[in-house]
Amino acid sequence: MAETGFTTMASAQAGGAAPTIGVGMLGYAFMGKAHSNAYKKLPYMMYPPVAVPKLVAIAGRNEQATRAAAQRFGYAKVYTDWREMLKDDEVQLFDNGGPNNAHAEPCIAAANLGKHILCEKPLARTAAEAATMLDAVTKTGVKHAVMFNYRFVPAVRLARDLIEQGKLGQIYHFRAVYLQEWIMPHYGTPHIWRLDKQQAGSGALGDLGSHIIDLARFLVGEPRRVSAATQTFIKERPDDSGAMKKVDVDDAFVSTVEFENGAIGSVEATRFAGGHKNYNSFEVNGEKGSIRFNLERMNELDVFWVGEEPKETQGFHNINVSESYHPWWSNWWPQGHIIGWEHTFVHEINHLLDAIVNHKPVAPYCADFTDGYRNAVICDAILQSAEDGRRVDIQY
Ligand SMILES: NC(=O)c1ccc[n+]([C@@H]2O[C@H](COP(=O)([O-])OP(=O)(O)OC[C@H]3O[C@@H](n4cnc5c(N)ncnc54)[C@H](O)[C@@H]3O)[C@@H](O)[C@H]2O)c1
Repeated sequence: MAETGFTTMASAQAGGAAPTIGVGMLGYAFMGKAHSNAYKKLPYMMYPPVAVPKLVAIAGRNEQATRAAAQRFGYAKVYTDWREMLKDDEVQLFDNGGPNNAHAEPCIAAANLGKHILCEKPLARTAAEAATMLDAVTKTGVKHAVMFNYRFVPAVRLARDLIEQGKLGQIYHFRAVYLQEWIMPHYGTPHIWRLDKQQAGSGALGDLGSHIIDLARFLVGEPRRVSAATQTFIKERPDDSGAMKKVDVDDAFVSTVEFENGAIGSVEATRFAGGHKNYNSFEVNGEKGSIRFNLERMNELDVFWVGEEPKETQGFHNINVSESYHPWWSNWWPQGHIIGWEHTFVHEINHLLDAIVNHKPVAPYCADFTDGYRNAVICDAILQSAEDGRRVDIQY
Protein backbone atom coordinates (compact mmCIF):
# COMPACT_ATOMS: atom_id res chain seq x y z
CA MET A 1 0.00 0.00 0.00
CA ALA A 2 1.07 3.60 -0.62
CA GLU A 3 0.89 4.77 3.00
CA THR A 4 4.60 4.33 3.60
CA GLY A 5 5.33 7.09 1.10
CA PHE A 6 3.21 9.46 3.13
CA THR A 7 5.32 9.03 6.25
CA THR A 8 7.92 11.10 4.48
CA MET A 9 5.25 13.54 3.45
CA ALA A 10 4.00 13.98 6.99
CA SER A 11 7.58 14.63 8.14
CA ALA A 12 8.01 17.11 5.32
CA GLN A 13 4.94 18.92 6.57
CA ALA A 14 6.32 19.00 10.11
CA GLY A 15 9.41 20.59 8.58
CA GLY A 16 7.27 23.29 7.00
CA ALA A 17 6.62 22.11 3.45
CA ALA A 18 3.20 20.68 2.67
CA PRO A 19 3.41 17.27 1.00
CA THR A 20 1.94 16.82 -2.45
CA ILE A 21 -0.57 14.13 -3.31
CA GLY A 22 -0.87 13.04 -6.91
CA VAL A 23 -4.48 12.87 -8.10
CA GLY A 24 -5.81 10.65 -10.89
CA MET A 25 -9.34 11.70 -11.88
CA LEU A 26 -11.89 9.55 -13.70
CA GLY A 27 -14.58 11.56 -15.50
CA TYR A 28 -14.52 15.16 -16.63
CA ALA A 29 -18.16 16.19 -16.72
CA PHE A 30 -20.28 17.44 -13.79
CA MET A 31 -18.35 15.85 -10.93
CA GLY A 32 -15.02 15.94 -12.75
CA LYS A 33 -15.43 19.70 -12.88
CA ALA A 34 -16.63 20.05 -9.25
CA HIS A 35 -13.78 17.93 -7.87
CA SER A 36 -11.11 19.56 -10.05
CA ASN A 37 -12.31 22.97 -8.94
CA ALA A 38 -11.92 21.87 -5.31
CA TYR A 39 -8.38 20.51 -5.82
CA LYS A 40 -7.33 23.82 -7.34
CA LYS A 41 -8.87 26.05 -4.64
CA LEU A 42 -7.76 23.93 -1.71
CA PRO A 43 -4.06 24.86 -1.29
CA TYR A 44 -4.65 28.59 -1.04
CA MET A 45 -8.00 28.60 0.81
CA MET A 46 -7.51 25.76 3.33
CA TYR A 47 -4.33 27.56 4.27
CA PRO A 48 -1.79 26.41 5.29
CA PRO A 49 -2.68 23.25 3.38
CA VAL A 50 -2.31 19.83 4.98
CA ALA A 51 -1.27 18.65 1.54
CA VAL A 52 -1.16 20.09 -1.95
CA PRO A 53 -3.10 18.11 -4.56
CA LYS A 54 -1.11 17.65 -7.76
CA LEU A 55 -3.35 17.12 -10.79
CA VAL A 56 -1.37 14.25 -12.28
CA ALA A 57 -3.80 12.70 -14.75
CA ILE A 58 -7.37 12.51 -15.97
CA ALA A 59 -9.05 9.52 -17.64
CA GLY A 60 -11.95 9.40 -20.07
CA ARG A 61 -12.96 7.30 -23.04
CA ASN A 62 -12.83 9.99 -25.71
CA GLU A 63 -9.26 11.18 -26.21
CA GLN A 64 -10.09 14.57 -27.66
CA ALA A 65 -12.62 15.43 -24.96
CA THR A 66 -10.35 14.14 -22.20
CA ARG A 67 -7.45 16.17 -23.59
CA ALA A 68 -9.62 19.28 -23.62
CA ALA A 69 -10.62 18.62 -20.00
CA ALA A 70 -6.98 18.12 -18.99
CA GLN A 71 -6.09 21.47 -20.52
CA ARG A 72 -9.06 23.23 -18.96
CA PHE A 73 -8.55 21.89 -15.42
CA GLY A 74 -4.76 21.58 -15.46
CA TYR A 75 -4.12 17.81 -15.44
CA ALA A 76 -0.65 16.94 -16.71
CA LYS A 77 -1.45 13.61 -18.38
CA VAL A 78 -4.36 12.10 -20.29
CA TYR A 79 -5.41 8.43 -20.29
CA THR A 80 -8.16 6.87 -22.35
CA ASP A 81 -8.20 3.81 -20.12
CA TRP A 82 -8.46 4.22 -16.35
CA ARG A 83 -6.47 0.96 -15.94
CA GLU A 84 -3.42 2.66 -17.45
CA MET A 85 -3.91 5.72 -15.27
CA LEU A 86 -4.00 3.58 -12.14
CA LYS A 87 -0.61 2.07 -13.08
CA ASP A 88 0.91 5.57 -13.06
CA ASP A 89 3.21 5.75 -10.01
CA GLU A 90 2.54 9.46 -9.64
CA VAL A 91 -1.15 8.78 -8.93
CA GLN A 92 -1.57 8.35 -5.18
CA LEU A 93 -5.24 9.30 -4.84
CA PHE A 94 -7.78 7.89 -7.29
CA ASP A 95 -10.85 10.11 -7.65
CA ASN A 96 -13.82 8.35 -9.22
CA GLY A 97 -16.29 10.81 -10.77
CA GLY A 98 -17.68 8.32 -13.25
CA PRO A 99 -21.26 7.04 -13.46
CA ASN A 100 -22.40 4.44 -10.92
CA ASN A 101 -21.58 1.44 -13.13
CA ALA A 102 -17.97 2.69 -13.34
CA HIS A 103 -17.44 2.81 -9.56
CA ALA A 104 -16.73 -0.77 -8.45
CA GLU A 105 -14.19 -2.12 -10.93
CA PRO A 106 -11.87 0.94 -11.00
CA CYS A 107 -12.09 1.46 -7.22
CA ILE A 108 -11.22 -2.18 -6.50
CA ALA A 109 -8.33 -2.02 -8.97
CA ALA A 110 -7.11 1.20 -7.34
CA ALA A 111 -7.25 -0.35 -3.87
CA ASN A 112 -5.29 -3.36 -5.09
CA LEU A 113 -2.61 -1.00 -6.40
CA GLY A 114 -2.41 0.77 -3.03
CA LYS A 115 -4.05 4.01 -4.15
CA HIS A 116 -6.21 6.00 -1.76
CA ILE A 117 -9.74 6.47 -3.09
CA LEU A 118 -12.40 9.14 -3.26
CA CYS A 119 -15.52 7.76 -4.93
CA GLU A 120 -18.68 9.56 -5.89
CA LYS A 121 -22.00 8.53 -4.41
CA PRO A 122 -23.85 6.22 -4.45
CA LEU A 123 -20.86 3.99 -3.78
CA ALA A 124 -22.35 1.21 -5.92
CA ARG A 125 -25.50 0.07 -7.69
CA THR A 126 -26.35 -2.56 -5.08
CA ALA A 127 -25.27 -3.52 -1.58
CA ALA A 128 -23.60 -6.66 -2.94
CA GLU A 129 -21.47 -4.55 -5.27
CA ALA A 130 -20.66 -2.06 -2.49
CA ALA A 131 -19.58 -4.97 -0.27
CA THR A 132 -16.90 -5.99 -2.79
CA MET A 133 -15.53 -2.45 -2.74
CA LEU A 134 -15.52 -2.26 1.05
CA ASP A 135 -13.78 -5.61 1.12
CA ALA A 136 -11.02 -4.38 -1.23
CA VAL A 137 -10.22 -1.20 0.72
CA THR A 138 -10.35 -3.04 4.04
CA LYS A 139 -7.90 -5.69 2.82
CA THR A 140 -5.43 -3.24 1.29
CA GLY A 141 -5.61 -0.59 4.02
CA VAL A 142 -5.89 2.42 1.72
CA LYS A 143 -7.87 5.47 2.82
CA HIS A 144 -11.36 5.59 1.35
CA ALA A 145 -14.08 8.21 1.21
CA VAL A 146 -17.46 8.63 -0.49
CA MET A 147 -18.52 12.05 -1.74
CA PHE A 148 -21.52 12.53 0.51
CA ASN A 149 -20.57 16.19 0.42
CA TYR A 150 -23.60 17.56 2.29
CA ARG A 151 -21.92 16.49 5.53
CA PHE A 152 -19.50 19.29 4.68
CA VAL A 153 -22.02 22.14 4.54
CA PRO A 154 -21.10 24.27 7.60
CA ALA A 155 -24.76 24.46 8.73
CA VAL A 156 -25.13 20.66 8.47
CA ARG A 157 -21.97 20.09 10.48
CA LEU A 158 -23.25 22.58 13.06
CA ALA A 159 -26.48 20.55 13.25
CA ARG A 160 -24.46 17.38 13.80
CA ASP A 161 -22.36 19.08 16.50
CA LEU A 162 -25.48 20.29 18.36
CA ILE A 163 -27.03 16.83 18.24
CA GLU A 164 -23.77 15.16 19.30
CA GLN A 165 -23.47 17.53 22.27
CA GLY A 166 -26.96 16.46 23.37
CA LYS A 167 -28.44 19.93 22.83
CA LEU A 168 -31.57 18.49 21.23
CA GLY A 169 -31.98 15.76 23.87
CA GLN A 170 -33.74 12.63 22.69
CA ILE A 171 -34.43 12.73 18.96
CA TYR A 172 -38.07 12.07 18.04
CA HIS A 173 -38.30 12.74 14.31
CA PHE A 174 -36.18 13.08 11.19
CA ARG A 175 -37.79 14.08 7.93
CA ALA A 176 -35.95 14.84 4.75
CA VAL A 177 -36.84 15.52 1.15
CA TYR A 178 -34.58 15.91 -1.86
CA LEU A 179 -36.55 17.37 -4.76
CA GLN A 180 -35.55 18.26 -8.32
CA GLU A 181 -37.56 18.75 -11.52
CA TRP A 182 -35.25 18.18 -14.46
CA ILE A 183 -36.83 14.99 -15.91
CA MET A 184 -40.39 16.33 -15.98
CA PRO A 185 -42.06 16.23 -19.43
CA HIS A 186 -41.42 19.90 -20.24
CA TYR A 187 -37.64 19.34 -20.01
CA GLY A 188 -37.73 16.72 -22.79
CA THR A 189 -34.92 14.82 -21.03
CA PRO A 190 -33.76 11.88 -23.19
CA HIS A 191 -32.86 8.41 -21.90
CA ILE A 192 -29.56 9.09 -20.12
CA TRP A 193 -27.48 6.81 -17.85
CA ARG A 194 -29.31 8.05 -14.75
CA LEU A 195 -32.53 6.44 -16.08
CA ASP A 196 -30.98 3.04 -16.77
CA LYS A 197 -30.85 0.46 -13.98
CA GLN A 198 -27.81 -1.32 -15.40
CA GLN A 199 -25.80 1.91 -15.26
CA ALA A 200 -27.35 3.75 -12.31
CA GLY A 201 -28.65 0.97 -10.04
CA SER A 202 -31.71 3.03 -9.13
CA GLY A 203 -33.26 6.38 -10.00
CA ALA A 204 -34.15 9.22 -7.64
CA LEU A 205 -33.28 6.84 -4.80
CA GLY A 206 -29.57 6.41 -5.53
CA ASP A 207 -29.14 9.82 -7.12
CA LEU A 208 -30.81 12.02 -4.51
CA GLY A 209 -32.16 9.70 -1.82
CA SER A 210 -28.71 8.33 -1.01
CA HIS A 211 -27.67 11.85 0.11
CA ILE A 212 -30.53 12.22 2.61
CA ILE A 213 -30.20 8.62 3.77
CA ASP A 214 -26.58 9.51 4.54
CA LEU A 215 -27.73 12.59 6.46
CA ALA A 216 -30.26 10.47 8.38
CA ARG A 217 -27.43 8.19 9.52
CA PHE A 218 -25.05 11.14 10.11
CA LEU A 219 -27.51 13.10 12.24
CA VAL A 220 -29.77 10.52 13.92
CA GLY A 221 -28.14 7.10 13.74
CA GLU A 222 -28.68 3.69 12.21
CA PRO A 223 -32.08 2.83 10.76
CA ARG A 224 -33.49 -0.55 11.71
CA ARG A 225 -36.48 -0.80 9.38
CA VAL A 226 -37.91 0.91 6.29
CA SER A 227 -41.22 0.85 4.46
CA ALA A 228 -41.39 2.38 1.02
CA ALA A 229 -43.22 3.10 -2.23
CA THR A 230 -41.68 3.99 -5.59
CA GLN A 231 -43.12 5.26 -8.87
CA THR A 232 -41.94 5.67 -12.45
CA PHE A 233 -44.05 8.33 -14.16
CA ILE A 234 -42.54 8.26 -17.65
CA LYS A 235 -41.94 4.66 -18.63
CA GLU A 236 -39.94 5.15 -21.81
CA ARG A 237 -37.83 7.91 -23.34
CA PRO A 238 -35.91 8.38 -26.59
CA ASP A 239 -32.18 7.67 -26.51
CA ASP A 240 -29.56 9.59 -28.55
CA SER A 241 -30.67 7.89 -31.77
CA GLY A 242 -34.34 8.68 -31.13
CA ALA A 243 -35.23 5.03 -30.39
CA MET A 244 -37.57 4.59 -27.42
CA LYS A 245 -35.94 2.93 -24.43
CA LYS A 246 -37.57 1.63 -21.25
CA VAL A 247 -37.00 3.56 -18.00
CA ASP A 248 -36.42 0.85 -15.42
CA VAL A 249 -35.60 2.99 -12.37
CA ASP A 250 -37.73 4.93 -9.90
CA ASP A 251 -38.65 8.52 -10.75
CA ALA A 252 -39.69 9.05 -7.13
CA PHE A 253 -39.66 7.25 -3.79
CA VAL A 254 -40.98 7.80 -0.29
CA SER A 255 -39.95 5.74 2.71
CA THR A 256 -40.63 5.69 6.41
CA VAL A 257 -37.59 5.02 8.58
CA GLU A 258 -37.56 3.52 12.08
CA PHE A 259 -34.23 4.21 13.80
CA GLU A 260 -32.46 1.97 16.31
CA ASN A 261 -32.58 4.76 18.93
CA GLY A 262 -36.38 4.95 18.77
CA ALA A 263 -36.68 7.97 16.50
CA ILE A 264 -38.95 7.71 13.47
CA GLY A 265 -38.69 9.55 10.21
CA SER A 266 -39.29 9.77 6.50
CA VAL A 267 -37.12 10.26 3.45
CA GLU A 268 -38.44 11.20 0.03
CA ALA A 269 -36.82 12.09 -3.28
CA THR A 270 -38.00 12.81 -6.77
CA ARG A 271 -36.88 14.45 -9.99
CA PHE A 272 -40.52 15.36 -10.75
CA ALA A 273 -41.13 18.15 -8.23
CA GLY A 274 -41.89 21.19 -10.40
CA GLY A 275 -40.28 24.41 -9.18
CA HIS A 276 -37.72 22.61 -7.04
CA LYS A 277 -34.24 23.01 -8.51
CA ASN A 278 -32.12 21.35 -5.86
CA TYR A 279 -34.33 21.33 -2.77
CA ASN A 280 -32.48 19.22 -0.21
CA SER A 281 -34.12 19.86 3.13
CA PHE A 282 -34.35 18.14 6.51
CA GLU A 283 -35.81 18.67 9.93
CA VAL A 284 -34.85 17.07 13.24
CA ASN A 285 -37.23 17.33 16.17
CA GLY A 286 -35.86 16.54 19.62
CA GLU A 287 -36.91 16.71 23.24
CA LYS A 288 -35.08 20.02 23.85
CA GLY A 289 -35.16 21.60 20.42
CA SER A 290 -35.63 21.34 16.68
CA ILE A 291 -33.41 22.03 13.68
CA ARG A 292 -34.35 22.85 10.08
CA PHE A 293 -32.08 23.06 7.04
CA ASN A 294 -32.63 23.71 3.34
CA LEU A 295 -29.78 23.57 0.81
CA GLU A 296 -31.36 26.34 -1.24
CA ARG A 297 -30.43 28.57 1.76
CA MET A 298 -27.35 26.62 2.72
CA ASN A 299 -25.69 29.29 4.86
CA GLU A 300 -28.61 29.25 7.30
CA LEU A 301 -29.84 26.93 10.04
CA ASP A 302 -33.17 27.32 11.82
CA VAL A 303 -33.07 26.30 15.47
CA PHE A 304 -35.86 26.18 18.06
CA TRP A 305 -35.18 25.70 21.77
CA VAL A 306 -38.02 24.25 23.86
CA GLY A 307 -39.01 26.47 26.81
CA GLU A 308 -36.76 29.37 25.87
CA GLU A 309 -37.50 32.58 27.76
CA PRO A 310 -39.07 35.03 27.34
CA LYS A 311 -42.12 33.17 26.06
CA GLU A 312 -43.13 36.10 23.88
CA THR A 313 -40.13 35.64 21.59
CA GLN A 314 -40.06 31.85 21.52
CA GLY A 315 -39.86 30.40 18.04
CA PHE A 316 -37.38 29.26 15.41
CA HIS A 317 -34.20 31.37 15.31
CA ASN A 318 -32.51 31.78 11.98
CA ILE A 319 -28.73 31.48 12.32
CA ASN A 320 -26.50 32.84 9.60
CA VAL A 321 -23.82 30.13 9.73
CA SER A 322 -20.92 32.26 8.56
CA GLU A 323 -18.99 33.25 11.69
CA SER A 324 -15.30 32.47 11.98
CA TYR A 325 -16.16 30.00 14.79
CA HIS A 326 -18.54 28.01 12.55
CA PRO A 327 -17.16 24.90 10.78
CA TRP A 328 -14.57 25.76 8.07
CA TRP A 329 -15.49 29.45 8.10
CA SER A 330 -12.10 30.70 9.22
CA ASN A 331 -10.83 29.49 5.83
CA TRP A 332 -13.20 31.68 3.85
CA TRP A 333 -14.55 35.20 4.19
CA PRO A 334 -15.62 37.70 6.86
CA GLN A 335 -19.01 36.87 8.46
CA GLY A 336 -22.01 37.03 6.14
CA HIS A 337 -19.96 36.77 2.95
CA ILE A 338 -21.65 33.55 2.04
CA ILE A 339 -20.26 30.41 0.44
CA GLY A 340 -21.79 27.96 -2.02
CA TRP A 341 -22.36 24.33 -2.93
CA GLU A 342 -18.91 23.91 -4.51
CA HIS A 343 -17.19 24.69 -1.20
CA THR A 344 -18.46 21.43 0.30
CA PHE A 345 -16.12 19.57 -2.07
CA VAL A 346 -13.15 21.61 -0.87
CA HIS A 347 -14.00 20.78 2.76
CA GLU A 348 -14.42 17.06 2.15
CA ILE A 349 -11.29 16.69 0.04
CA ASN A 350 -9.29 18.60 2.63
CA HIS A 351 -10.57 16.20 5.30
CA LEU A 352 -9.48 13.23 3.19
CA LEU A 353 -6.02 14.67 2.48
CA ASP A 354 -5.57 15.29 6.20
CA ALA A 355 -6.56 11.68 6.90
CA ILE A 356 -4.04 10.47 4.30
CA VAL A 357 -1.00 12.51 5.26
CA ASN A 358 -1.58 12.55 9.00
CA HIS A 359 -2.83 8.96 9.29
CA LYS A 360 -6.19 10.00 10.72
CA PRO A 361 -9.48 8.14 10.33
CA VAL A 362 -11.79 9.32 7.54
CA ALA A 363 -14.97 8.48 9.52
CA PRO A 364 -17.09 9.52 11.40
CA TYR A 365 -17.29 13.07 10.04
CA CYS A 366 -16.64 12.05 6.44
CA ALA A 367 -18.41 9.12 4.82
CA ASP A 368 -16.13 6.18 4.07
CA PHE A 369 -16.82 2.95 2.20
CA THR A 370 -18.50 1.46 5.28
CA ASP A 371 -20.98 4.32 5.09
CA GLY A 372 -21.28 3.82 1.33
CA TYR A 373 -21.99 0.12 1.85
CA ARG A 374 -24.56 0.73 4.60
CA ASN A 375 -26.22 3.36 2.45
CA ALA A 376 -26.51 0.81 -0.35
CA VAL A 377 -28.05 -1.74 2.04
CA ILE A 378 -30.71 0.83 2.98
CA CYS A 379 -31.35 1.69 -0.70
CA ASP A 380 -31.77 -2.02 -1.50
CA ALA A 381 -34.17 -2.41 1.45
CA ILE A 382 -36.25 0.54 0.22
CA LEU A 383 -36.56 -1.00 -3.26
CA GLN A 384 -37.39 -4.38 -1.75
CA SER A 385 -40.05 -2.89 0.51
CA ALA A 386 -41.63 -1.03 -2.41
CA GLU A 387 -41.68 -4.23 -4.46
CA ASP A 388 -42.98 -6.54 -1.74
CA GLY A 389 -45.33 -4.07 -0.05
CA ARG A 390 -43.97 -4.79 3.42
CA ARG A 391 -41.58 -3.36 5.99
CA VAL A 392 -37.96 -4.50 5.57
CA ASP A 393 -35.36 -4.83 8.34
CA ILE A 394 -31.92 -3.30 7.75
CA GLN A 395 -29.19 -5.92 8.03
CA TYR A 396 -25.58 -4.92 7.43
N1 LIG B 1 -21.95 14.47 -4.73
C1 LIG B 1 -22.82 15.08 -5.51
O1 LIG B 1 -23.44 16.07 -5.13
C2 LIG B 1 -23.08 14.54 -6.90
C3 LIG B 1 -23.73 15.32 -7.86
C4 LIG B 1 -23.88 14.79 -9.15
C5 LIG B 1 -23.43 13.53 -9.45
N2 LIG B 1 -22.84 12.78 -8.46
C6 LIG B 1 -22.34 11.42 -8.77
O2 LIG B 1 -21.14 11.56 -9.53
C7 LIG B 1 -21.03 10.51 -10.47
C8 LIG B 1 -20.89 11.10 -11.86
O3 LIG B 1 -22.01 11.90 -12.11
P1 LIG B 1 -21.93 13.17 -13.10
O4 LIG B 1 -23.13 14.00 -12.81
O5 LIG B 1 -20.60 13.79 -13.06
O6 LIG B 1 -22.13 12.41 -14.48
P2 LIG B 1 -21.80 12.94 -15.91
O7 LIG B 1 -22.63 12.13 -16.84
O8 LIG B 1 -21.89 14.43 -15.95
O9 LIG B 1 -20.25 12.55 -16.07
C9 LIG B 1 -19.81 11.22 -16.10
C10 LIG B 1 -18.37 11.20 -16.61
O10 LIG B 1 -17.88 9.85 -16.60
C11 LIG B 1 -17.33 9.55 -17.88
N3 LIG B 1 -17.48 8.11 -18.09
C12 LIG B 1 -18.62 7.41 -18.25
N4 LIG B 1 -18.35 6.10 -18.35
C13 LIG B 1 -17.02 5.98 -18.25
C14 LIG B 1 -16.11 4.88 -18.30
N5 LIG B 1 -16.56 3.64 -18.46
N6 LIG B 1 -14.79 5.13 -18.18
C15 LIG B 1 -14.34 6.38 -18.03
N7 LIG B 1 -15.14 7.46 -17.96
C16 LIG B 1 -16.45 7.26 -18.07
C17 LIG B 1 -18.11 10.42 -18.85
O11 LIG B 1 -17.43 10.61 -20.05
C18 LIG B 1 -18.21 11.72 -18.02
O12 LIG B 1 -17.00 12.45 -18.10
C19 LIG B 1 -22.27 9.65 -10.29
O13 LIG B 1 -21.96 8.56 -9.47
C20 LIG B 1 -23.27 10.57 -9.60
O14 LIG B 1 -24.18 9.88 -8.79
C21 LIG B 1 -22.64 13.28 -7.23
